[in-house]
Amino acid sequence: MTSTVKLFEPLTIRGVTLSNRIVVSPLCMYSAVEGLAQPWHFAHLSTFARGKAGIVVTEASAVEARGRITPACLGIWTDAQAEALRPVVEFIDSMGCVAGMQLAHAGRKASTRPPFSARGPIPLSDEDAAEDGAPWQTVAPSALPVADGWHVPAELDTAGLDTIKQAFVDAARRAIGVGFRVLELHMAHGYLLHSFLSPLGNQRDDEYGGDLAGRMRFPLEVTAAVRAAIGDEIPLFARISAIDGREGGWTMEDSVVFAGKMAAAGADVIDCSSGGIGGAPRFRSDDLGKPLNADSARAPGFQVPFSRQVRSETDIKSMAVGVIIDPHQAEEILQSGGADLVALGREIMHDPFWPLHAAEMLGVDPDYGMWPKQYTWAVDRRAQIKALNR
Ligand SMILES: Cc1cc2nc3c(=O)[nH]c(=O)nc-3n(C[C@H](O)[C@H](O)[C@H](O)COP(=O)(O)O)c2cc1C
Repeated sequence: MTSTVKLFEPLTIRGVTLSNRIVVSPLCMYSAVEGLAQPWHFAHLSTFARGKAGIVVTEASAVEARGRITPACLGIWTDAQAEALRPVVEFIDSMGCVAGMQLAHAGRKASTRPPFSARGPIPLSDEDAAEDGAPWQTVAPSALPVADGWHVPAELDTAGLDTIKQAFVDAARRAIGVGFRVLELHMAHGYLLHSFLSPLGNQRDDEYGGDLAGRMRFPLEVTAAVRAAIGDEIPLFARISAIDGREGGWTMEDSVVFAGKMAAAGADVIDCSSGGIGGAPRFRSDDLGKPLNADSARAPGFQVPFSRQVRSETDIKSMAVGVIIDPHQAEEILQSGGADLVALGREIMHDPFWPLHAAEMLGVDPDYGMWPKQYTWAVDRRAQIKALNR
């Protein structure tokens, strides 16, 4: 479908054409068992395909077991974990949507409790630990805990870095093997690759630390290795924390430099989030409307300036995320050059049919033709109500 409404303008990146610019942001569900997707994941992800999002991205999926945020996070370090996701990928395809996977390593923010039970690291010696599974040794660029009370990570040596790079490559191949057509590298929110970038996480004195070039080296190597493994057809996104928002941390200027290097390493889209290098939870709905700081949820579109700057100062595409709620707001972000794509998290969980409702609201789908044919009777009824109210 062609449309002057930018939100529903198709976008081709490498060998993949998206039917619209709406992306389901990665959303941890803390519902996996030994890294394996469960019926919940099928229901959750396929709901967004019924709603016709352009890309449905999985939650952060760990490239190795110690890279899980919690014991209940999805994994992609075994073939069985990939196969468990094949049915949902096939369903997403059947709806005309594209399945994406976020490849992740939690680094020093691994070995934490699923938020349904408690927050923070799994206690090292505590009977509560049993409920959430045993804690494990975390790894990081430097042996710096996230904050007081967190596990002290083991500093990765160069053999350790090679192992993790290979884990990203193997995971990328596995994901593509079961039909994922977009991959995103998680380089944000204080997890492993972000902690290499930020001076607040990386105090190494070898070639993987020190100045900006040194701190960017490992994330860029991972990107280049993944690109080499996946060939030229698959779009590769990277989610970054555009700013740490902390004294002495990663800055927007660093992000612009990094985005340029990422394009050269084979990335196609920079997904602009922020924060998370410290231990505090990042998103709390009760923070909405309060003044900006790096560790709280903020006003609508608060991260759009990051994506706008990446897009205008480099040759790489960008994606905006963060309190994008209203279809007109999303359309304005795209029309004004703030991003090439918009990602929605909490709002699309609240309304998985958000893209279809947006299409109606923006006049792209007045007759509900985009709805799944199985729901014809529901939309017929809605059309009748609309006609009666005219
Ligand atoms: C329940 C939940 C789980 C999340 N899991 C992830 C994740 O796996 N990977 C990630 O990069 N961001 C994750 N995020 C952040 C979201 O992808 C998104 O960037 C954030 O919620 C801001 O967008 P929103 O205002 O549309 O929700 C999560 C957020 C929530 C609320």
